[in-house]
Amino acid sequence: MAKKKVLILNGPNLNLLGKRQPEIYGKLTLAQIEQKVRMLARELGIEIEFRQSNSEGELVTWIQEAANKFGAIVINPAAYTHTSLAMRDAVSALGIPTVEIHISNIHQREPFRHHSFIAEVAVGQIAGFGVDSYLLGLRAAAELIQE
Ligand code: DQA
Repeated sequence: MAKKKVLILNGPNLNLLGKRQPEIYGKLTLAQIEQKVRMLARELGIEIEFRQSNSEGELVTWIQEAANKFGAIVINPAAYTHTSLAMRDAVSALGIPTVEIHISNIHQREPFRHHSFIAEVAVGQIAGFGVDSYLLGLRAAAELIQE
C-alpha cells in the first residue's frame, strides 16, 4: 500500500526565519529548513507538503482539509500555539495524528509560552532542538503513518 503523505504546517512569523531573533531561532531561512525536511522525507520514502501562513483562518482550513489527503500533520503553530482555540478544535476534529514542534524550548522561555492549546490534542510535542525539531517531527510522523 502506498504510504500516506505528511503535511508540514508553519504558523505566523516563521516566514521571517533567518533574520528573526537568530539567537533563538537560528540562522536558517524557512526555505532552507524545507530543503532539509525534503531530504529526510526522500530518505524515509515519504511524500510531504510544506506550507506557511500568517493567517489563523487559513491554517484552520488547511488542518480541516488534511484528513482527505494526508496521514499525519507536523505543525509549528508559532504564536498561535499559545492562543488558538480554533486550531486546537480543528486538530481534535481531524482524525489523523498531529505532531507539534517548536524550534525553541517553549518551557524554558516566558511563562506565556508554557501553555500550548495544541499539545492537549497532539500525539506529542517536540521542542528545543532547533531546526532538528522539524526532522524529529517528521520521523515521528513517519512512524505514525505506518501504524
Ligand atoms: C515557536 C515558539 C513560539 O512561542 C513562538 O511564538 C514562535 C516560534 C518555536 O518554533 O520555537 O513563533 O513556535
